[in-house]
Amino acid sequence: MAFLYQMLGSKIWPPRDTKPDLTGRTLLITGAECLPNSGLGYESVIKFVRASAKRIIIGVRSIEKGEEAKRAILAQIPQSNVTIDVYHLDMLDYTTIEAFASRVNQEVERLDYVVLNAGISPHAYKKSAYGFESGIQVNLVSTTLLSLLLLPKLLASKTDTFTPVLELVGSGTHQRMPQLLPETDNTEKDISEVYNSETSFRTFGFIQQYSLTKLFLMYVQWQLVKLVDDKVSGSPRVYVIVVGPGPTQSGLGRDFQEQSSLGVRVAVHTMNLLTKTAEQGARTYLSGLMLGEKGHGQFWQWDSVNRC
Ligand SMILES: NC(=O)c1ccc[n+]([C@@H]2O[C@H](COP(=O)([O-])OP(=O)(O)OC[C@H]3O[C@@H](n4cnc5c(N)ncnc54)[C@H](OP(=O)(O)O)[C@@H]3O)[C@@H](O)[C@H]2O)c1
Repeated sequence: MAFLYQMLGSKIWPPRDTKPDLTGRTLLITGAECLPNSGLGYESVIKFVRASAKRIIIGVRSIEKGEEAKRAILAQIPQSNVTIDVYHLDMLDYTTIEAFASRVNQEVERLDYVVLNAGISPHAYKKSAYGFESGIQVNLVSTTLLSLLLLPKLLASKTDTFTPVLELVGSGTHQRMPQLLPETDNTEKDISEVYNSETSFRTFGFIQQYSLTKLFLMYVQWQLVKLVDDKVSGSPRVYVIVVGPGPTQSGLGRDFQEQSSLGVRVAVHTMNLLTKTAEQGARTYLSGLMLGEKGHGQFWQWDSVNRC
């Protein structure tokens, strides 16, 4: 019931469209190629371009789909002077994550904003090549790895008047997690093994397993915040934040849809129509990023941004 209320509420009263000024800024976003059902990443890039960003790096699994998204975006805003670079990145493959970060570190002069948007909500249990449940792999482990690899560039981009932002994408569903698995009270057990097991996936179900990845992402944020705080002044050298876009139309449920009966697909499609659009969801990403701009406090939306 609470979920339905949240879903309809954010459709009727979507997040504010803040339209900030990103002149001269370089942004990086992962997972922005979702066409034709554009997701939050794709809609965010449109907003970055409209806000006059100087350069945008898009990390995608399929260069072809990334280039297609780039063409579609530039066709919508032909007057823009932005440079969009499409780099290969697969969050299920550490080799590409390291190659992606190293390319960014070498080829990008400064990095003002990073949005680690790529995420999945798998319907069935699947293990990654590294032994993690695939949702935990993409949403949590690989996102943490990429955060750590990009932090040096973000730290080096801080100036007296500007603090770079590392934005992780969470989900309000993490607040609705029931208690964690009782096995984790047993100190003999390896927690990672417990939560990456098929038993955990079956116990929670795919929706709660997704929520679990986002709950653990909050713990990662706490640690990253500690890592980047200036020990002398106590103020952050990089803002590490988590934004929760809330229920939004996107391709996130495609795995579930593909594996469901026609009736369920129709029900999900109908429910999708009751949620806000990806463009409206992407507004939360922009609000979160504005933490970096001094004097732009009016762009904050505390209900959608969590900063520890
Ligand atoms: N939609 C919602 O209601 C909602 C609510 C709260 C939070 N979120 C979060 O918002 C973020 C964006 O999701 P969305 O709703 O926009 O879903 P989406 O349309 O499915 O977009 C997800 C993006 O992540 C990319 N991705 C998936 N696996 C990847 C991998 N292994 N390597 C690189 N990229 C990968 C996808 O690329 P491909 O096209 O290659 O698969 C796609 O571009 C996710 O972190 C999600 O958890 C969504």
